[in-house]
Amino acid sequence: MVKTIEWKNGAAYIIDQTLLPKKYKIIKCDTVLKIRTAIKKLQIRGAPAIGIAAAFGMVIAYEKFKNDPDYKHEMREAVKYLASSRPTAVNLSWALNRIMKVVDRGGDVKKEALKIFEEDKKICRLIGKHGEKLIQKNATIITHCNAGGLATADYGTALACIYSAHEKGKKLKVFADETRPLLQGSRLTNWELTRSGIDTTIICDNMAAHVMETRKIDLVIVGADRIAANGDTANKIGTYGLALAAKAHKIPFYVAAPISTFDLKLKSGKQIPIEERSSKEVVKFKAKVYNPAFDVTPANLITGIITEKGIIKNLKKITSWISKK
Ligand code: MRU
Repeated sequence: MVKTIEWKNGAAYIIDQTLLPKKYKIIKCDTVLKIRTAIKKLQIRGAPAIGIAAAFGMVIAYEKFKNDPDYKHEMREAVKYLASSRPTAVNLSWALNRIMKVVDRGGDVKKEALKIFEEDKKICRLIGKHGEKLIQKNATIITHCNAGGLATADYGTALACIYSAHEKGKKLKVFADETRPLLQGSRLTNWELTRSGIDTTIICDNMAAHVMETRKIDLVIVGADRIAANGDTANKIGTYGLALAAKAHKIPFYVAAPISTFDLKLKSGKQIPIEERSSKEVVKFKAKVYNPAFDVTPANLITGIITEKGIIKNLKKITSWISKK
C-alpha cells in the first residue's frame, strides 16, 4: 500500500496527489499553514486522510505554542483555521475536536494524533473485511472518485472492499468514473488499483448509465464525506447521479465509510454544507461556473453502508445501530 501520509521528526510527509499519476512527489508539511494549504489544494484529500493531516497540524501547533500561557486559545484558533480548509468532510472537524479534547485535559497531543492515524489503518482493514463479502467471484464494480489508500491512512474504504476481495483470490473488474473536474478516479483510483494488479477501466462520468445498461455490473461502491442521521450521504459530485442510474438498473449501491464519517447531529442531508470550488477547476477560460465539489445521495438510493463495525442495511435505524455497537 502507498504511504499517503506519514509523521516523521515533527512534520507530516504527504504524497502530492495533484501530481499523480505523472509524478510521485512527497512534500514536507512542517507548519500549520503548509498543512492547511495541502488540504485546501487537495495535495492530500479524501475524508479520513484530511482528518489525519489536520490532527498532525494540531501537533505542529502544539509544539509551537505549548509554552505560551495562552496556548489553549492558540490551539482553538488552529482548530478554526484548519477546519475552514474544507467544509464537507466531517472527519476533519471530528479529528480536530478529538485533539482539542486532549489539549483541554492536558494530555499528549502527538500520541492522540498518531492514534487517529493507526486506528484509521485498522478501520479500513475492517471495512474491507465486511465489504468483501458483498463481492462475488468475477464481479464487475463501478466506483466513483477515490476512496482508496490515497484517501485514508492506507487501504481505503470503498477500495478496501475491492482490495480485500482481490486478496481472497476473487477475480474482479472495476470501472472507475473519471470524476470531473479534478479526475480523482482516472488519476488516483486507476493508479492505485492497477498497481495492485486489479483490472481497471476508466470511464467518463457521463458513461456510467450506458455501462450499466450494456455490461453486467454487479454493484457500485463509493466512499462518503458526511452521512446524516437518516442515511443521506454526501460524497464527490456525481455520486447522486450514479446512485440514480444504479437504482434504475436494479444494481446494489453501497457506501463504505468509517463511523467517524457519520454526523448524527444532522437530521438529513439537507443540512450538510457543500463545498464550492474555483471555476478554474472546470474551465480554463473566463465564464460563469457553478462548481459544487459534493452532492448528497438520498438514503432511499443506498442499499447499505459498510462500516468497520459491520454493514448497516436499515438506514432508518442508523443512530440506534451505532449506539448498540
Ligand atoms: O474532494 P475529495 O477528493 O477529497 O473527495 C473525496 C471523496 O469524495 C471520497 O469519496 C470521500 O472523501 C471518501 S474517502 C475514503
